[in-house]
Amino acid sequence: MSNRPQLILLGAPGSGKGTQAAKLVEELTYQHISTGDLLRNEVASGSELGNRVKAIMDSGDLVDDGTVLELLQKNCDLANSQYIFDGFPRNEVQAKALDEHVLKDVASTAIYFDIDLGVLEQRIVNRRVCKGCGEIYNLLFKKPQSDGVCDKCGSTDLQLRKDDNPETVKNRLKIYKESTEPVLKYYEGQGRLSRVDASKGSEEVLKELINVINN
Ligand code: AP5
Ligand code: MG
Repeated sequence: MSNRPQLILLGAPGSGKGTQAAKLVEELTYQHISTGDLLRNEVASGSELGNRVKAIMDSGDLVDDGTVLELLQKNCDLANSQYIFDGFPRNEVQAKALDEHVLKDVASTAIYFDIDLGVLEQRIVNRRVCKGCGEIYNLLFKKPQSDGVCDKCGSTDLQLRKDDNPETVKNRLKIYKESTEPVLKYYEGQGRLSRVDASKGSEEVLKELINVINN
């Protein structure tokens, strides 16, 4: 394992966390862990947990801290891997739980995807996600080469997420401001926060991220 820190990506819905995490996995030796993806997998599988959280996710509210922390712990093994945490922590309780129960004394750094919230609805309602391989597209900013066909795996099932409609996006952004923005202060206060300009094109954002990680 390299001696790079565990990465915590912080940013509003649509700021590009999932897009950049996938690129970082290709460029560096990280594994991507997205609590949103883990929860959506539970919903798709029809598990007891999935049925319990489905309506909450569809409305854009946050799932309870205990459920998400347990799911995260079940899916990561810090002794043997380096992770990109995407979508966790979402509030201060989760930030403290991540430090105390998951990271413990393992080195980590938080990176804030800095972007004006006003541009995010347009990004989000135009997102399409490949059902086959999870590749993230955008009808305005990152179209597949052939309409409706995944460049990576050839699937023709490019889906709009259930929570990617204007009404739910408004609620998600409101919750982000209320619950997740305060987490920035938590990391800043400890000198563990870096920033990237997430309004730039995705290749430029990737360059900034790699700089932050290597310095
Ligand atoms: P989650 O899946 O985490 O969603 P989110 O935080 O709302 O973030 P998104 O996935 O929408 O955005 P992203 O930053 O990954 O953007 P992306 O790269 O796709 O959470 C979903 C739900 O699960 C929550 O609402 C909650 O209910 C529950 N949940 C999850 N974690 C939880 C937790 N810890 N606690 C409690 N509940 C939890 O990009 C977006 C679009 O923009 C794409 O189309 C992309 O192609 C495009 N794009 C990306 N970068 C650029 C760029 N640089 N320029 C132009 N377009 C770009
Ligand atoms: Mg995402």
